[in-house]
Amino acid sequence: MLAREVHAITAHVDAAVDRFSTKPWTAGVIGLGYVGLPLVVAAMEAGVAAVGFDIDHDRVAGLASGTSHVDDVSDEELRAALDAGLVVTSDESALSEVDAIFVCVPSPLGVNRQPDMSYIEAAAATISRVAHPGVLVSLESTTYPGTTDDIVVPAVEQVGLKVDQDAFVAFSPERVNPGGGIPSARIPKVVGGVSEISGRVAAAAYGRLFASVHPVTHARTAEMTKLLENTYRAVNIALVNEMAQLAHQLDIDIWEVIEAADTKPFGFQAFYPGPGVGGHCIPLDPQFLAWRARQAKFATRFIDTAEQINTAMPRYTADRVADLLNDHGLPLYGTAILGVGIAYKPNVADDRESASIEVLKLLQRRGAEISVVDPVVGTDRIEHWGFTAVSEDSIGSPALAIVLTDHDAIDLSRVADSAAVVFDTRGAYRRRGLSHTNVVTL
Ligand SMILES: NC(=O)c1ccc[n+]([C@@H]2O[C@H](COP(=O)([O-])OP(=O)(O)OC[C@H]3O[C@@H](n4cnc5c(N)ncnc54)[C@H](O)[C@@H]3O)[C@@H](O)[C@H]2O)c1
Repeated sequence: MLAREVHAITAHVDAAVDRFSTKPWTAGVIGLGYVGLPLVVAAMEAGVAAVGFDIDHDRVAGLASGTSHVDDVSDEELRAALDAGLVVTSDESALSEVDAIFVCVPSPLGVNRQPDMSYIEAAAATISRVAHPGVLVSLESTTYPGTTDDIVVPAVEQVGLKVDQDAFVAFSPERVNPGGGIPSARIPKVVGGVSEISGRVAAAAYGRLFASVHPVTHARTAEMTKLLENTYRAVNIALVNEMAQLAHQLDIDIWEVIEAADTKPFGFQAFYPGPGVGGHCIPLDPQFLAWRARQAKFATRFIDTAEQINTAMPRYTADRVADLLNDHGLPLYGTAILGVGIAYKPNVADDRESASIEVLKLLQRRGAEISVVDPVVGTDRIEHWGFTAVSEDSIGSPALAIVLTDHDAIDLSRVADSAAVVFDTRGAYRRRGLSHTNVVTL
């Protein structure tokens, strides 16, 4: 490359960095779900104009009328963003004018637990229709290392834009923790470009939206960072799930063991057992890595072992319920069981991939009469899963209550006073300092 050309590119990159760091610009977000909606609201709060695009017309209509479907974004926050000029639309052409496009579409697994890239591919098709010179495109959907190079770069190049000259491409994993109380803008943002230049430009843009940015050398590094984080959690949860089963066999209280180990100020991080892993991150994300590893003829033994243990937990939990009832001379068949909480984690209304539902389905298949109380998820979803929804005022006197999701809003003492026996799969009574003689823990 001639010195003149190098100089021109350097000046052009410096101008892009300067624009994203200091000048007004507009952010476009594809996909307004749990990740995309907080991002457009955070952009508006940071003084960056935002356009949110989603193919779901009902969702867009709800958002445009000021109703948020995401726990972490209140209606008031959404309305303030709309009043300040946030645009939500199902018309992708609204992205033709934005300076940066952030992709926040789903990335599920297919029926054979292989990555389903169809949503990212559809978003890439949108990008190839709206991309224009100077645009930054950053993928945020969790995915296998190499996706940004494989799918986003070709979408940009397809319309004749040259990466680093006419457009910039990066990956930045979303680390939002729904219901966790930390606004996503305050969680450090890992950013990797498909090249050093794209990384610099992307880091400048994220610097306007997030309190701290951690640049890495390549998009692949950023993609793998997200998968390492969630694989670490899946493996440690599996370890403690195995320990819980052993402790039960040895007549030791695993919750007391964890509490004691957690007094060590170094070298130990507490993870807790439960009826299985849920949500659409922990059960799925390690599989993106395992799938990519298989392509590279590499065996991911920790991932496979963790998967085996965690996916067996709902059945182990259901078997423990059957044993408890048996101790009281009762069969599963025809016995009234109250499920307490069906969300995949406390204080969120999200029931996707929830292990709680799997446990209750296993019990229902064996003939138990299942009712469910979950004031956060609500009646419609409980009935959607084929259970009888009850309120806290109408839980009756079940033979057994099983605490599956520990929402703060649920009065656990009332549950223990109503049911003959309580099976606490979350250590919830201990954590709340409640003592009831009829509570048995996982
Ligand atoms: N929810 C979380 O806690 C979380 C945390 C970290 C990472 N992630 C990752 O972020 C990504 C998004 O997850 P989410 O929970 O926000 O999903 P979501 O299902 O809540 O929202 C996705 C949105 O994208 C829309 N959409 C789908 N295809 C589209 C398209 N082609 N164009 C425009 N909009 C489209 C859907 O209608 C939906 O509104 C996933 O890759 C997920 O793994 C999620």
